[in-house]
Amino acid sequence: MSKLQDKVVIITGSSMGIGKTMAIEMAKRGAKIVLNARNKERLQKTHSELKALGYNVIAVDGDVTNLEHCENLINQAINAFGKVDVLVNNAGISTRGTIEDLNPAVFKKVMEVNYLGSVYPTQYAIPHLKKSGGSVIFISSVAAIHGIPNFSVYSSSKMALTALAESLKNELAETGVHVGIAYVGFTENDPDKKIYDTDGKIIAQPNNAVIKAEPPQNVANRIIKMIERKTFKSVFTPIGKLNAFMNRLSPSLVGKILGINYQKNKKKN
Ligand SMILES: NC(=O)c1ccc[n+]([C@@H]2O[C@H](COP(=O)([O-])OP(=O)(O)OC[C@H]3O[C@@H](n4cnc5c(N)ncnc54)[C@H](OP(=O)(O)O)[C@@H]3O)[C@@H](O)[C@H]2O)c1
Repeated sequence: MSKLQDKVVIITGSSMGIGKTMAIEMAKRGAKIVLNARNKERLQKTHSELKALGYNVIAVDGDVTNLEHCENLINQAINAFGKVDVLVNNAGISTRGTIEDLNPAVFKKVMEVNYLGSVYPTQYAIPHLKKSGGSVIFISSVAAIHGIPNFSVYSSSKMALTALAESLKNELAETGVHVGIAYVGFTENDPDKKIYDTDGKIIAQPNNAVIKAEPPQNVANRIIKMIERKTFKSVFTPIGKLNAFMNRLSPSLVGKILGINYQKNKKKN
């Protein structure tokens, strides 16, 4: 029997992409799932899909940057299932553009969603996680290992989650709550995925990947392992692991390699 059997799992940003795949993989293992996202129509569609598969699932629409919505998300989970065993802070948004060019509003928005959007649900979930001895997981990125040119605010927002997780781990050390942070590698995107462009407009994720993306099922399975084994930090994908290893050995070399790649791509485009 899976360790997730009968566990109540809240996954923010779970109407599509990695969040939706995690919801399916955890539901398969007997977890009771609380879905969340802002777009009600897409959230309801995902909810119906999981229901049709026979899974025990509810959907709570809401924005992770809104405190009242986050409080409601946790309260709805308690109303429906009576406890919270796992919170996965997955909702996130990306952008690209140099620091010189990016609209200042984009810095604010990305930090709000990726950083504060992980803080707020966690704050409301902590009392319930203390009762259940559960897990809180932060979905970071391999972009948080070393600041990436053209992805400054995304890298910063995901690096901030490292400090958050490290602080929280020690704050909750005596409580039995497990804290985990996953440095997810480049993952196959949902066709509906959107990002901010340099001006702050929401655009479709450009499809110009140079690195092979891994299927979201792999990401979901690795996160499930982290919960089952109570892992603190885990870096995904061989490139992510190599990056983390090299960065421990010689951050200046990693910086140089990233710089050379950036200049090369700039000349190409
Ligand atoms: N894809 C990758 O290659 C990759 C790599 C490393 C890390 N990650 C991280 O993994 C996580 C999921 O990425 P993904 O590619 O699966 O993203 P995605 O396909 O764009 O899905 C994002 C999900 O989050 C929801 N969302 C966005 N903003 C929200 C908000 N303010 N409040 C509540 N829900 C919100 C979206 O629905 P609504 O728009 O309806 O709210 C959607 O359900 C993110 O944290 C991302 O940074 C992804």
